[in-house]
Amino acid sequence: MALLWKRIAFRDGLIKAVGPAETISAQYPESSCDHVIDATDMCVLPGLVDAHTHPVWAGDRVHEFAMKLAGASYMDVHRAGGGIHFTVEHTRAAAASELLDALTRRLQRMLRAGTTLVECKSGYGLELQTEVKMLEVIEAARRSLPINISSTYCGAHAVPKGRTEAEATADILQVQLPRLKELMSAGTLQVDNIDVFCERGVFGLSSTHRILQAGRDMGLNINFHGDELHPMNSAQLGAELGALAISHLEEVTDEGIVAMATAKTAAILLPTTAYILRLPQPRARDMLDAGVIVALGSDFNPNAFCCSMPIVMHLACVNMRMSMSEALAAATINAAYALGRAHTHGSLEVNKHGDLLVLNCCRWEHLIYQLGGHQEILRYVVIKGNIVHDNDKTMEM
Ligand code: NIG
Ligand code: FE
Repeated sequence: MALLWKRIAFRDGLIKAVGPAETISAQYPESSCDHVIDATDMCVLPGLVDAHTHPVWAGDRVHEFAMKLAGASYMDVHRAGGGIHFTVEHTRAAAASELLDALTRRLQRMLRAGTTLVECKSGYGLELQTEVKMLEVIEAARRSLPINISSTYCGAHAVPKGRTEAEATADILQVQLPRLKELMSAGTLQVDNIDVFCERGVFGLSSTHRILQAGRDMGLNINFHGDELHPMNSAQLGAELGALAISHLEEVTDEGIVAMATAKTAAILLPTTAYILRLPQPRARDMLDAGVIVALGSDFNPNAFCCSMPIVMHLACVNMRMSMSEALAAATINAAYALGRAHTHGSLEVNKHGDLLVLNCCRWEHLIYQLGGHQEILRYVVIKGNIVHDNDKTMEM
């Protein structure tokens, strides 16, 4: 396939050439292409990368949104047995086929909003059987859908009801991770990352350390929730363990920022969560100024129901004071870095995956500027050189 604009040529799903039309036309005449998109007067961007989602679950939490609007905090709801616990109950009871149907619909929504690579976590089982069920559902989606997936084991998302943190940690270390290792070695499951919710009243620093280290020893990338509601020194721990990324960081300290910059641990910032929970905004500017690699994620979950990275970028610009170019880098190449995929995804370069967006407007910034406007702007979503979404209802801007 070739894209007329400047020009990008794809072969076998990979980008073969990028450059001025004349140069590429000489190398790849139009007649030799099986498909040509005319992108005259349109913009072309790399596909968006969503570095943090919890998309496998049953039972929404629309009733809790009302409670939070009335003043309940995230932890008030959690301690009262709602929040993650509510979702765990419903997810344990759901059939794998029901979870796969819901996941498929959510991933399709993300794709239509321009996401071409998405990180997907387990974490609403908190015991072996349901955690494996969730990872199998993610695996089935990875094999059947065009969207690229990075899969994360997040068995330490909460301490299950009736258990202590020590018991939950022991179960993860002695039961869940060993079984995961077997399934990964047998080729039944591909798992890329390990995650822990490192938070006061959830998993403390020492349990987090042990779980992440065990995951790393199995070859998983460390990518965890830290310094969200309280300063926990999660950033320092992540840097020490060589974490690829840490998410949230609303409460990160100055020392944590320096440690992440030095260790090249990416910060995955989640503007929807800070917005919905009315948390202090993550210190994006301080992180960028200190040289931290800043990425973005939607944090799609029953608390923060948002499938749209264009909205995430908009919030990052307005609430976290990022520039539009910084937000785009954070939602493409930096998010790919946070998932260990910067060599294959996140930018339009030769030999990377042919994942891109064609926008029906003459300035790419419209994708961020028009709050919630992606439906009208995104003309094509292309993954591995194939058009996976053709929105012929876009309007010229
Ligand atoms: O990233 N903070 C922990 N985990 C999720 C929320 C999950 C949930 O509330 O179901 C987050 O915001
Ligand atoms: Fe999360």
